[in-house]
Formats: sequence, structure tokens, C-alpha cells
Amino acid sequence: MVSLTTVRASIESLRTTAPGQVYLFVGGTSGIGEHALRQLARLAPKPKVYIVGRSPQKAQSLLDDLRASNPEAEFVFLHRDVSLVRDTDEVCKVLLAEEGRLDGLFLSAGYAPYDGRADTVEGLDAAMTTGFYTRAQFMKTLLPLLNAAPAPRVVAIFAGAKGGRLIETDLGLNKPGNFTLMNFVLGSATMLSLAMARLAAQNPKISFMHAYPSFVWTPALTNGSSGWKKFLLKYVIGPLIWPFGLSAAEAGDRALDYVVSEKYAVKEERKGELYLLNWNGEIEKPPKLLVEYEKREIGEKVWEHLEEVLDVALNATS
Ligand SMILES: NC(=O)c1ccc[n+]([C@@H]2O[C@H](COP(=O)([O-])OP(=O)(O)OC[C@H]3O[C@@H](n4cnc5c(N)ncnc54)[C@H](OP(=O)(O)O)[C@@H]3O)[C@@H](O)[C@H]2O)c1
Repeated sequence: MVSLTTVRASIESLRTTAPGQVYLFVGGTSGIGEHALRQLARLAPKPKVYIVGRSPQKAQSLLDDLRASNPEAEFVFLHRDVSLVRDTDEVCKVLLAEEGRLDGLFLSAGYAPYDGRADTVEGLDAAMTTGFYTRAQFMKTLLPLLNAAPAPRVVAIFAGAKGGRLIETDLGLNKPGNFTLMNFVLGSATMLSLAMARLAAQNPKISFMHAYPSFVWTPALTNGSSGWKKFLLKYVIGPLIWPFGLSAAEAGDRALDYVVSEKYAVKEERKGELYLLNWNGEIEKPPKLLVEYEKREIGEKVWEHLEEVLDVALNATS
């Protein structure tokens, strides 16, 4: 376990990094991503930080705080909804047009669909899209910028090594009965790991990390739920699991450390490998199921599925 003291000392070292690094935060308007963003803004010298969010009103006080905490930094808010492939494409186009490099891509947007499937105007479930499809879209589209940075890192906060079995004949969980909370979590997390492992193998300069944050007290506890489910999560399940959880401050510091610590840099002996991280900063062995999927080249099947989903969504709305 990496102690919180070590984590906090490590992120302080951001103060002495090269000025002018460029970051993109997707999910930085709440919870783990927001805390990591606030800390990065406070500590990094003259960073340029893009923040994607659905609500400019909600983001305004965050932006005011960020600017006050580091007047030399530049913060750019992009008003887009990453449950949409088309919005994600537009964000990528802005970065590709404006920037020559991307030092850190931090992906934490998402929620658990307690109320079931919720299709967007593009016909994709919003939870699967924020949790997997558009995260992979950001990573693959921004590769030229990431590869142009000296030591680029990509952090995705979701389930780390805790993915599970896929429904191989219905990766998008479209058939009746296939979309359940469990199938969503296990399948999206595994697809994310397989897609990230493929990207890591093809882009050995970039450190790709998929991290499980543990249970963290954030709006994620109840987002995606309504009615009695929301009540149960807020007043029964939440208080029961609260003593075993982490604060958003701790989880955010730990998440930011993935961008900072040498422990998670690309290493010669494991170049091209995805880091699967547990909540405590430990690097986990890939679970047997993931190894089996990689042997059977299921990652290729997932990648084809991803490309098809992105193509259909982009063409349908353009
Ligand atoms: N907290 C936990 O215990 C826990 C445990 C395991 C995994 N996770 C996963 O880790 C990630 C980060 O969690 P967190 O605790 O930081 O969550 P959070 O506080 O709820 O923040 C989630 C972020 O995702 C964005 N988002 C949510 N639904 C969206 C949608 N439909 N379209 C676009 N953006 C959306 C939110 O934007 P707005 O500000 O606009 O709402 C927010 O920036 C999530 O994917 C979560 O599912 C969390």
C-alpha cells in the first residue's frame, strides 16, 4: 500500500515540474476528478488545463477557485456532454487544433445506471458511453498529442482489475435482459481495460492506467438512481458502507499521484503494458479472465465494436 503521507509528499513535487504542461480533465466537475483537478491547479507551475463539463453555471465557481489558486495557470472550460460521441469529437478537435502536446489525460466522468438503460439521442446508453466508449474515443483521438509530450500519462478512474465477464455476443448490452447494473460494471470495465491495454501496447511512450478508487463519498453514490433506489442508496447503503470508504480528498490525491509519481511512469521492463491500479496505489496483476481474453484476442473484437459504435454515432448525427 502506498501511504497517504507518501502520496501527499509525491504530489507536492508537482511544484518543481516543468512549467506549461497541458492537461485535459473529463469528469473534473465533481468528486474524485474535481479534487485531483483542484490539487493540480494549486501545485503545477503555469499549467494549461482543459475541463469538459455539462453545466457552465455549475463550473463557474470551480473555475473562479481554480483561477484564484493559480493566477499564472490557464483554465479552459469546454461546455460539452461526454455521454455524446459527437460532443467528445468536438472536444478532441479543439485540442488537436489548439495544442501541440498533451501531458495528462484524466478521465473520471461516469455513473452507475441504477435505474437501467438510458439511451442518448445517439442511441447509446449514457452510462456505457461515459464509462467506456467516449473515454476510449478521447484516448485514441488524442494519441498524436499524447505521443508528442515528453512523459504522457492517461488515467481512467473506474474499476481497475475488478472487471468481469463480457457478454461476447452482445458487447453493447442491447438485447432484452442483458443490460443490468452488474453486466454494465463488469463489461464496461473489462472493455476499458482491453482497449487501454491495446493502446498501451501500440503506444509504449504513454503510461496508461485504469484505477479502482474504492468506495468514495461523492455524488456517484446516488447519481443514476431515483425514487426508492435513491432513498435506499442515500440513507441505508451509504451510511452502512461509509466507514469503509474514502473521502473525495484522499481519492483525488491518490488519483493525482498517478499523474505524478515515478512508480507509474513507463518502465523499460514493462513498456507497453497497462497499469491496473487498486485504490491504495498498488499495481495489480491482470486477473485470469483478462489474461484469457488477451490470449483469445478479445481485445480486437472489443476494438472493432468500439470503432463501429463511434462511426455509427458520428455518421448518424453529422
Ligand atoms: N465514488 C465511488 O465510490 C466510485 C467507485 C467506483 C467507481 N467509481 C467511478 O469513478 C468515476 C468517478 O467517480 P466520482 O466519485 O468522482 O463521481 P462523481 O462525483 O459523480 O463525478 C462524476 C463526473 O462524471 C460526470 N458525469 C456523470 N454523468 C454524466 C453524464 N451522463 N454525462 C456526462 N458527464 C457525466 C459528472 O459531471 P457533472 O458534474 O456534470 O454531473 C462528474 O464530472 C465514475 O465513473 C464512477 O462511476 C466511483
